[in-house]
Amino acid sequence: MNNLSLFSEEKSAEVVLASFGEGTDPRLRHVLGALVRYLHDFVKEVELTNEEWEAAIGFLTETGQTCTNVRQEFILLSDVLGVSMLVETVNNRSLELATESTVLGPFHMVDSPIRERGDTIALDGKGRDCLVTGRVTNETGAPLANATVDVWQANAEGFYDVQQPDVQPEGNLRGLFTTDDNGEFWFRSIVPRHYPIPVDGPVGRLLQATGRHPHRPAHVHFLATAKGHRPLVTHLFVEDCPYLGSDVVFGVKESLVREFAEVDDPSGAAELGFDNPYCTVHFDVALLSKPEPK
Ligand code: BEZ
Ligand code: FE
Repeated sequence: MNNLSLFSEEKSAEVVLASFGEGTDPRLRHVLGALVRYLHDFVKEVELTNEEWEAAIGFLTETGQTCTNVRQEFILLSDVLGVSMLVETVNNRSLELATESTVLGPFHMVDSPIRERGDTIALDGKGRDCLVTGRVTNETGAPLANATVDVWQANAEGFYDVQQPDVQPEGNLRGLFTTDDNGEFWFRSIVPRHYPIPVDGPVGRLLQATGRHPHRPAHVHFLATAKGHRPLVTHLFVEDCPYLGSDVVFGVKESLVREFAEVDDPSGAAELGFDNPYCTVHFDVALLSKPEPK
């Protein structure tokens, strides 16, 4: 009998790794192997009790059972533990010239409503009027015409349209825009508000047990794409939001925070169909060119 195959506290991870067959994909061996080593070290470090192990299994089971086709509690768990942002950050290392990325979140719609530049995305007209302008460029600052800018945001009460199908019109506060020859886009909207992530499941209990609030700071989501460039998932954050320093999913990057400046201009407001005063914000987006295929 090979002594290595016998399980002991000391050799626990080694024994499990030795059980992987020769044909195991090398990347899978690397990733799963590291996971097993860290998990075993974790159990030894905290000296996990049987009751704690059972509670953890129960928690993960409930996390799975909370998932539906419109709710992904596992992603939410990854979000509040900082894992989603870490994966995002590791995968976007050394892209200093591009706009910084952040989490996609669960409220993106694959088929966002197509809109013309200048359209309003605030279909119900509720909230503080805001003109959003920006330009999509490459990493050297050259404008990208015909880029697409997909935007979505919560309303002034902190809810997405899909969370309030009986209150908000479908497609409210969403739009897919295309940039003009100068790479520019602009649309009318409202100033978003901070909002809580869903807390009626196991992730909510975890937040409560660890004394954490459930809020995301006010933001507008952006997904920018252009031919020959790396797609970018990011947010534009509202500067004076009280939750900027404590985002429950750790998504804030300083470079993405902008002032939503108040403008007192009755004729400009009338032209835009806004109440006076209104807000304006400018957000430029730089995409990284993909290397030419060899
Ligand atoms: C969001 O910004 O839409 C979001 C991101 C992560 C978790 C929940 C919501
Ligand atoms: Fe969001």
